[in-house]
Amino acid sequence: MLSEAKNQLLTQVGPGTPMGELLRRYWHPIGAESEFDEISVRPARLFGEDLVLYKDLSGNYGLVDRQCPHRRADLAYGFVEKCGLRCNYHGWLYDEKGQCTEQPYEDIANPQVRLKDRIKIKSYPVQAKAGMLWAYMGPLPAPLVPTWEPFTWANGFRQVVISEVPCNWFQCQENSIDPVHFEWMHSNWSVRLRGDTGPYAPTHTKLGFEEFEYGLIYKRVREDTDEKHPLWAVGRLALWPNVFCLGDHFEWRVPIDDENTLSITWAFNRVPREREPYVQATIPAWYGPVKDEATGQWISSHVMNQDFVAWVGQGRIADRTQENLGASDRGIAMLRRHFFDELDAVAQGRDPKGLVRDEATNECIDLPVAARRLFVDGLTREELKAHPIIGKHLKEYAFQYGQPEAVKRAFHDAMGVQIDEHGNVVNAPLGSAQHG
Ligand code: FES
Ligand SMILES: [Fe+2]
Repeated sequence: MLSEAKNQLLTQVGPGTPMGELLRRYWHPIGAESEFDEISVRPARLFGEDLVLYKDLSGNYGLVDRQCPHRRADLAYGFVEKCGLRCNYHGWLYDEKGQCTEQPYEDIANPQVRLKDRIKIKSYPVQAKAGMLWAYMGPLPAPLVPTWEPFTWANGFRQVVISEVPCNWFQCQENSIDPVHFEWMHSNWSVRLRGDTGPYAPTHTKLGFEEFEYGLIYKRVREDTDEKHPLWAVGRLALWPNVFCLGDHFEWRVPIDDENTLSITWAFNRVPREREPYVQATIPAWYGPVKDEATGQWISSHVMNQDFVAWVGQGRIADRTQENLGASDRGIAMLRRHFFDELDAVAQGRDPKGLVRDEATNECIDLPVAARRLFVDGLTREELKAHPIIGKHLKEYAFQYGQPEAVKRAFHDAMGVQIDEHGNVVNAPLGSAQHG
């Protein structure tokens, strides 16, 4: 249980709030590179700030204020030029640093005044990495966009999945350090959603939580595993400050504002050995719906959709004055303690934990990954199909509802499989598969 004041400290992310200032010291993924194959500009609300994200005709990305400082037109309807974004109302042009570089009529009528030199809009740096676009909204100098080890893995089909979840970011991140929910929310609830009443999943018998340089690790023993099992020996990760990581799968919970969160997933599927060397030309990105519009119910068919049901069910901002924590919540308590310590550190002018500023370190940041060999060395297609966990992922995207057919086709093509008329995964002729 937390006081109202402490709950506000964890959950308020707008400009000038302590948590807003802390989180702004990290790079956050805010979209995907491949979105900009189709569009050149779109709105982006982040940390309570209304912005637009664009890619100009030279390929530079920019993240700038949404309102034009001339007479406040919406720059989401602007158009991109060789260098920057032009307002569609009177043509003022801004570069990615927010500097106004052209004011077409002023430049003719009053060229000597150079009003444009004094016009600068809010702007934040954007970088592309791992198929995602990352923004940094904190004080300069910015740290580096982390090169997490899985971003360097070869021979993978990667995809980015984006959703807007209508609740505060912190309850989403608390889910990243909550092992017991897998048993109930995913395994057992799925049994009930199928209409069965059992058997239920093996129950958790022991939990461990520890801190490492880049976050928290949680470990579990279930009645069907022991301490030699990777679920205990390696565990899973909640990275600072808002990431859940299973190695082949990262989830970020990026605040849109206090009451909405951008969920961004990066998922990696190692292609079978027969498909090597596989080079993916484009990392596809898609938006996953969270609500079934026909029924008005939250979608509950896939793992992350189930998580979303939990998060939004806790309320727009979970009221932590009303909760009762137990032994399963040791990780939750550690996470909160971490953030309270970090808020103090930032208030005293120190860097929060887990920032990467050293180029050599950032060549590749190793993480504890339970099944690394599976992703790095790969399996043959037959071994992959027979694998008890990742074999099931061959049929369809397991984590979230709504994968577009085109992405599914590209995935099956990469994996050298197809779905037959009975819905079974069968081999596709390898010779016809195209890298893409
Ligand atoms: S409002 Fe943007 S140029 Fe006039
Ligand atoms: Fe979950």
